[in-house]
Amino acid sequence: MKPVLVLLVSCSWTLIGAQNYYQALMDYLENRLLAIEDRMHLWHQQAHQYHTEMLDFKKLTTETMVGIRSDQSAMFKELEGASARMDLVEKEMDYVETQNSPRACANKADRVLEQEAWGLQEREEVEEDGGWEELQPRVSECEELISSFRSVKVLKRIGSPKGMWTRDPKSSKVYIFNGTSGETVYEFRSVQEFSRSQGVAESRIIHLPFEWTGPGGAVYNGYLYYINQETDTDVQVIKYDLMSGLVTDTAMFPIGKHVSLYTLNPETVADLAVDDEGLWLLFIPTDSEPNISLAKMDTATLDIEQIWDTRCPRENAEAAFVVCGTVYVVYNTRLASRSRIQCVYDVNDMMVSEEAPLLYFPRRYGAHASLKYNPEEKQLYGWDDGYQIIYRVTIKRKLLA
Ligand SMILES: *[C@@H]1O[C@H](CO)[C@@H](O)[C@H](O)[C@H]1NC(C)=O
Ligand SMILES: *[C@@H]1O[C@H](CO)[C@@H](O)[C@H](O)[C@H]1NC(C)=O
Repeated sequence: MKPVLVLLVSCSWTLIGAQNYYQALMDYLENRLLAIEDRMHLWHQQAHQYHTEMLDFKKLTTETMVGIRSDQSAMFKELEGASARMDLVEKEMDYVETQNSPRACANKADRVLEQEAWGLQEREEVEEDGGWEELQPRVSECEELISSFRSVKVLKRIGSPKGMWTRDPKSSKVYIFNGTSGETVYEFRSVQEFSRSQGVAESRIIHLPFEWTGPGGAVYNGYLYYINQETDTDVQVIKYDLMSGLVTDTAMFPIGKHVSLYTLNPETVADLAVDDEGLWLLFIPTDSEPNISLAKMDTATLDIEQIWDTRCPRENAEAAFVVCGTVYVVYNTRLASRSRIQCVYDVNDMMVSEEAPLLYFPRRYGAHASLKYNPEEKQLYGWDDGYQIIYRVTIKRKLLA
């Protein structure tokens, strides 16, 4: 009985052992599968997370891009706003300038009125003024001053950045001086003809016997008055008959050899100007002189009748012209901005520069190489960076004393 029992027991042990083994194997495999499943789940989760992160990132970048774009457009808008405001300021400045004309020629009537209010002491001064005026008669008889710029017209653009153009107040012919010196001058019958022309080929070409030096010439009543300075010689004014083509007179000038009148236009050795009173010469007597001098010339003989120190500095000056015995000096900056009349000098002593407010030129291209006043038309012929421009000015009458 005992061996059978032993066998049974051992058999059952074997059976139990195999069963246990399989169970363990199953457990193991199941665990492994679970682990793999877990890991797969994890991977899946991670993948999902990455995906959402990527989506988030994409969203963020698009948002940022949109933000940047809107910032940019906002910035552009602000810039536009700023430039519009600048325009407005400029316009307002123009307006203020037109409202504040040079009170330049403070006239005697005004003075007397003022002085009546100020009392006796001042009255004595008036009498003194009167006495002085009797002794020294006025050079200029006209009573006009520039109060504002009325309009600007760009006619054409020919030739070089620097030059000069002008119109004879008597014959209405137009003369073109291209560049800063030369022996030729171009003549057109009228401003219209010049404006319509294709170029100087359609003009009458005038060959001068002596070179013109600098854009400082003037045409008056059929005569061309111009500055000539050959290398290292004295400066002379030449009077040239435009009809006959002959030099009718010349005059030497005691001007320093290497002096220039306007520091912004060093080519201008001296500057001739024509107004209702005749011919004027703007010049610098010596190189050390900081202020511009003015001479009244006899148109027939080129004699100098009188000389004044205008007390207008030549530093940062680009041009000047004379209207009715009053010099208007135009200033600018080395990097051309807006030209302005910042110094005026009246030969009749009816105004002082400090009294005359700034008068700004209308907006333009660059810097004036020359400005020539035409007393008949009350307009300025400007050469601005190669453009030929006409500025119409508003003239105010000085009140008669
Ligand atoms: C004016 O002068 C410039 C050089 O200074 C030259 O290039 C140009 O052709 C000239 N124009 C005319 C119309 O003579
Ligand atoms: C030049 O003019 C200024 C006034 O604008 C004056 O103060 C100065 O003394 C003048 N200089 C000379 C040398 O005349």
